Amino acid sequence: MKFQLTLNLVLAAFALLAHAAPISHNEIATKSAKGLRLLSLAEGVDPVWKTEDEKLELMRAGIKFFDVTEVYELEKLAPVENDFSVAATFPSPSHQSALAPILAAVSTANMQSNLNSLTAFNNRYYKSTTGASASTWILNTVKSITSSRSDITSALYSHSFVQSSIIVKIPGKVASTPVTILGAHMDSINLSSPTSGRAPGADDDGTGSVNLIEALRVLVAAGFTPSTPVEFHWYAGEEAGLLGSQAIATAYKNAGTKVKAFMELDMSGYFKPGTTEVMALQADYIDAGLNTFLKALITTYSRIPWAMDIPCGYACSDHASWYKAGFPSSFPYEAITGNDNPNVHSSTDTTSVNGFSWAHSIEFAKIDQDRVLELESVFKLAVVSKVGELTPLLNVPSVL
Ligand SMILES: *[C@@H]1O[C@H](CO)[C@@H](O)[C@H](O)[C@H]1NC(C)=O
Ligand SMILES: [Zn+2]
Repeated sequence: MKFQLTLNLVLAAFALLAHAAPISHNEIATKSAKGLRLLSLAEGVDPVWKTEDEKLELMRAGIKFFDVTEVYELEKLAPVENDFSVAATFPSPSHQSALAPILAAVSTANMQSNLNSLTAFNNRYYKSTTGASASTWILNTVKSITSSRSDITSALYSHSFVQSSIIVKIPGKVASTPVTILGAHMDSINLSSPTSGRAPGADDDGTGSVNLIEALRVLVAAGFTPSTPVEFHWYAGEEAGLLGSQAIATAYKNAGTKVKAFMELDMSGYFKPGTTEVMALQADYIDAGLNTFLKALITTYSRIPWAMDIPCGYACSDHASWYKAGFPSSFPYEAITGNDNPNVHSSTDTTSVNGFSWAHSIEFAKIDQDRVLELESVFKLAVVSKVGELTPLLNVPSVL
């Protein structure tokens, strides 16, 4: 008994050595008031304080992190409940005939038009006025798409910075939970001059953002009434440490909201010319069962095969925020890392970048010759349309 107690004390002392004491409320209040940010740079390692300049240097060096300044205390309010040793299970795809007309209605012209509007903002940086205006633009766009449906709600989700996230909720016909969430990030960044520099963010993450807008449009047009709720999220501040998605995922966890599945679309419009076109499934910070389901969906509904990406790493995109909150997450990406878009986070992330292969235009081969010129501008979005096909599928329309 005595030995046991001593051993426990020794183990407790070791645990204290491995992890510093939790950061106090007072320390967070004082340091964040001075403009410091609390960054979590690796799994299981205590977060560290950095200045905004140091944070930007990390971003320029390509080092990913969660900026946990505002969620550190909130994350400790409720435990993470899901058991990651048990993969989530999902049914086999079985709604091919119901989905066929919905998928056929996905319009690359609409996506291009919406992408033109998003890239017209000088940048969509989370601290810039144009970044805030881009939030309002997305809100107005989704409100207009859903105006015929009084049951669907669209709202801004405010943060401590000027850019807001946007949440669209389609209620469940049978149950109010669990929720299926499709996400993309609406912000963009010019790493050399974040606040005022040009950052069209066409691919990162304009493509994922317009995939979601178009998926919402075709579902609403089809009278989509899911059995369990479906939500569409456009996150603010992803580039600055997954700010929007962490705030929302933590709030859902603390409210006891059950999430069935989360899928992130962050870049879907590019693959390196000469490489084989794939949908690259992220292999880490995801749910293996959800990935199995995604593989079946891609095999059933897309002309492009899936492939496993190399590990994306810690805090790679918004799916990591939902994973951290204990929910099944997934992230199909435009290409295997290395064959993805090299123009991100700069003024050259535009729709005219060389790299959207003509091979994608095969989808448009049936289009009238008169529209060949138009093809040149829309072929770039061919991959987008294919990933766009995925978005309605996570929660198949059991009630149409
Ligand atoms: C950032 O924007 C400025 C001005 O718009 C531009 O000159 C510069 O090349 C951009 N930096 C990057 C990394 O694209
Ligand atoms: Zn991105």
